[in-house]
Amino acid sequence: MAKIQLDHVSYSYPNRGRPAEVLHDLNLTVERGEFVCVLGRSGCGKTTLLRLLAGLDLPTRGAVRIDGEAVTGPGTDRSIVFQSYTLFPWMTARQNVLFGIQQTGKWGRAEARRLADAFLRKVELAEAADKYPYQLSGGMRQRVAIARSLAMDTEILLLDEPFGALDTRIRRELQEFMDALRWRDGQAEKTVVFVTHDIDEALYLADRIVYMTPGRIAADLPVPLPRPRKDLGPAERAQRDALRRTLVELFDREEDAPCRCAADAS
Ligand SMILES: Nc1ncnc2c1ncn2[C@@H]1O[C@H](COP(=O)(O)OP(=O)(O)OP(=O)(O)O)[C@@H](O)[C@H]1O
Ligand SMILES: [Mg+2]
Repeated sequence: MAKIQLDHVSYSYPNRGRPAEVLHDLNLTVERGEFVCVLGRSGCGKTTLLRLLAGLDLPTRGAVRIDGEAVTGPGTDRSIVFQSYTLFPWMTARQNVLFGIQQTGKWGRAEARRLADAFLRKVELAEAADKYPYQLSGGMRQRVAIARSLAMDTEILLLDEPFGALDTRIRRELQEFMDALRWRDGQAEKTVVFVTHDIDEALYLADRIVYMTPGRIAADLPVPLPRPRKDLGPAERAQRDALRRTLVELFDREEDAPCRCAADAS
């Protein structure tokens, strides 16, 4: 059975009495252990899609299913890293991560604290554990949010441009960490839906890339490259470059297309 299934999903934001449909009849299947990247221009509905997967919003039509069960709200099987920093301002970095861990109810106090510190170390924020969000830079806040989500050890990870605000080095390290994290005994354990604007990031991380145009899935491309993808051989690099060209073309094609964003429809 598929881990995640979208079955004819449409979604409209209530918009001054006149609903504007931002997702139209989406069908998508994500298998257990799959890493799917979602690419697409700004405003095409990537965050909306992630919110439906998280159960923060419910489809206007159709159904989102996890392990075959229709999603009716958020659950402890999923964690989400939002596009904007969403830390509790009155909690320190450590308390924010601990809060996420405690939501899952999986660990006792001492183990939760040990995990919180371990994940803060992984995102290179051990020194900042006792700082409050206002004392951290944007990139540091995002790293705390990432640590919180990873420390929850959920089966499904939903990430909305999590590395957008980070510098290149830490971004690359977290990409590698993200890739390594979901494997256990050679099996991919975690199912990941990862939104990004960055074609190369998607080619580095994804088993499949879903390309969205406003409200729709325009392409669903497998990325059959071996892992880890740091040092690909010449044949595989050529394969990756061909995929990159396909994705660039998809982005370019929209440049010429008339804007069909929901804001225009209202
Ligand atoms: N709360 C809201 N109320 C009404 N319309 C909304 C709301 N949030 C988003 N939209 C509209 O829904 C559409 C999709 O927005 P969404 O945030 O999902 O795009 P996105 O692909 O994540 O964009 P970006 O890459 O800029 O983050 C846009 O036209 C946007 O204006
Ligand atoms: Mg978005």
